[in-house]
Amino acid sequence: MTKATTGRDEPGVEVTLDIHRPHSARMYDFFLGGTTNFEPDRVAAAQTLAVFPNAPVAARANRAFMHRTTRMLAQSGVTQFLDIGTGIPTSPNLHEIAQAINPTCRVVYADNDPIVLTHAQALLRSSKEGRTAYIQADVRDPEHVLDAVATAGVIDLRRPVALSLNALLHFVPDGDGAHEIAEVLKGRIRASGSALVISHFTPDFAPRDAARAARVYREAGTIVQARTLTEFARFFTGWDLADPGMVATPRWRPDAECARRAVSDADASCYGAVAIRP
Ligand SMILES: C[S@@+](CC[C@H](N)C(=O)[O-])C[C@H]1O[C@@H](n2cnc3c(N)ncnc32)[C@H](O)[C@@H]1O
Repeated sequence: MTKATTGRDEPGVEVTLDIHRPHSARMYDFFLGGTTNFEPDRVAAAQTLAVFPNAPVAARANRAFMHRTTRMLAQSGVTQFLDIGTGIPTSPNLHEIAQAINPTCRVVYADNDPIVLTHAQALLRSSKEGRTAYIQADVRDPEHVLDAVATAGVIDLRRPVALSLNALLHFVPDGDGAHEIAEVLKGRIRASGSALVISHFTPDFAPRDAARAARVYREAGTIVQARTLTEFARFFTGWDLADPGMVATPRWRPDAECARRAVSDADASCYGAVAIRP
């Protein structure tokens, strides 16, 4: 079932959480230093750290990639954002970055983990001039996600939209049609000037560590499919890559913070790129 809230018409929604098994959103929250995680998440995170000690560095580099790409898109005039696989709110969230540049920006968030829904209020504190909404939905049913976005009414899919799928698609194996899902989403975001932002776990920089980390996630119940550069590139077919193309996340238009942190490609183990619909 899809639940949508704009925070204006729906004061509370019932959710069911399974906190007895680790979940990728809560493990990611742990790596980012958050507190929305439980014992099974922390155990699985510790097992990940044993084989991939730079997981927190990779998580922060991924988050910083989202900050820089959102800033660039808002500065270049994009006012509508759709962020699927949002994660547990971690300030600054995407709408805070976009609305700091243009307060009229409108943002729709979507995630399939009910714990994100329980924290959605943090995603709904929009600027007065802008709007945000949260949709609980699964990207593996992309038509349904887009129908829910259209129903929420916060963004207009006929106008340019920046779609972000950050650190999401590696949780969608080929068997669930990751590339086909991206094509469905791109097929309904048709306005020229729309953007596709993706960060994605890869085995290309540290193959042994990446394989070990994926194994820990699998044993904890979450399939992770790291993808090579060629596989990553397929997500952008038909759209024009913005400079500098497909690079390790810390290498995408690095700022002073990137220079200070000096995260290596192997530490990040994620590709990032932005493409624009011609
Ligand atoms: C690693 S977090 C990334 C959070 C945020 N995008 C970022 O880059 O900071 C991955 C998120 O994807 C969500 N997710 C995983 N599979 C999903 C699916 N099939 N549909 C929607 N969300 C999903 C998880 O619940 C989690 O919140």
